[in-house]
Amino acid sequence: MKKIAVLFGGLATVGLGGSLWLFSAPPMDADAAVTTDVEAIARGEYLFIAGGCMSCHKGDDDESVPSGGYALESDFGTFYAPNITPDLETGIGNWSGADFLAALKHGRAPDGSFYYPAFPYRSYAGLTDEDVLDMAAYIMSLNPVRYQEPEPELVPWLQRPLVAGWNLLADFSQPEPEVFEDELIARGAYLARNLAHCGECHTPRNGLGIPDWSREFAGAELGEEVVEAIDGEALEEWSFANFDLFLILGMKPEGEFVGGDMNEVIEFNTSNLTDEDRDAMAAFFTRHHAGD
Ligand code: HEC
Ligand code: HEC
Repeated sequence: MKKIAVLFGGLATVGLGGSLWLFSAPPMDADAAVTTDVEAIARGEYLFIAGGCMSCHKGDDDESVPSGGYALESDFGTFYAPNITPDLETGIGNWSGADFLAALKHGRAPDGSFYYPAFPYRSYAGLTDEDVLDMAAYIMSLNPVRYQEPEPELVPWLQRPLVAGWNLLADFSQPEPEVFEDELIARGAYLARNLAHCGECHTPRNGLGIPDWSREFAGAELGEEVVEAIDGEALEEWSFANFDLFLILGMKPEGEFVGGDMNEVIEFNTSNLTDEDRDAMAAFFTRHHAGD
């Protein structure tokens, strides 16, 4: 069981009208194909690890396959990560490339319904189509596992169509993607903000559960757990090398080891990054004192 951030505070007050355009299909590339190319599959496997997909989708009895069932607790009830192995009946074996793009980048299911943002699709929205389709190629190359995850157990008013209004509100405050001249920092930003979704836990949210972008990475709460700030101010004392080592071992500059949910992030995602990607992330987070 794992605690997730409060995502829906006050959502009931959003009061959706019947504005149909809210529910229209997301823009997408209907022809996007899922390839069986081995290189795409290998790239996809790496992205799947860096994206932390397994920390939620790991199987209930076999943690090495994304067959789902893991319980994600929130103040509004329990979500269960779905089976994303290519089983035709209980998994996503019949998904097209377009289905993957709609799910990961727009939070929409193949039937057009809305995913709850317990699935960090708003971070994944910034992924390139190529990266999403490479992950799709990897997922489709896995052995299918038959397992039906339970339905979410939520407060009764938290119905999927409400998420349309929530997405719209979240869009209003979403900043334009930052453009970096330095390629390494740009790569680090892509990893931190999108693929590794560090902000899903480290950026505070307002009463509606929408990230407060003016305080990006300023720390938050996760159930009872305190998620420390990792913004420029908080990392004032961290050198590039400190951050790099942290991503491998979870060890902080003063020699203490990180705990809580961050342990899993280190073990399953960041410690498996290539040297180049780890450096990129360290460069992004310590750029406020570039040059050390
Ligand atoms: C923080 C937990 C979490 C992480 C990390 C996560 N997911 Fe999910 N994912 C979910 C939940 C929960 C749902 C179901 C949401 C719902 O029911 O509305 C979901 C839904 C999905 C679906 C739709 C499945 C279906 O049957 O409709 C796909 C595909 C998916 N995730 C792929 C991924 C991939 C690929 C990654 C990594 C890049 C990832 N997820 C990372 C929690 C997560
Ligand atoms: C699932 C939620 C979650 C995600 C995703 C996450 N973190 Fe954390 N992080 C935490 C928690 C919780 C702590 C505090 C752990 C503790 O109590 O020791 C933490 C602590 C940290 C710390 C230590 C800060 C300090 O001063 O002690 C750093 C640095 C950090 N995270 C960086 C990252 C980076 C970089 C990413 C993205 C690759 C990331 N985190 C993604 C939950 C998360």
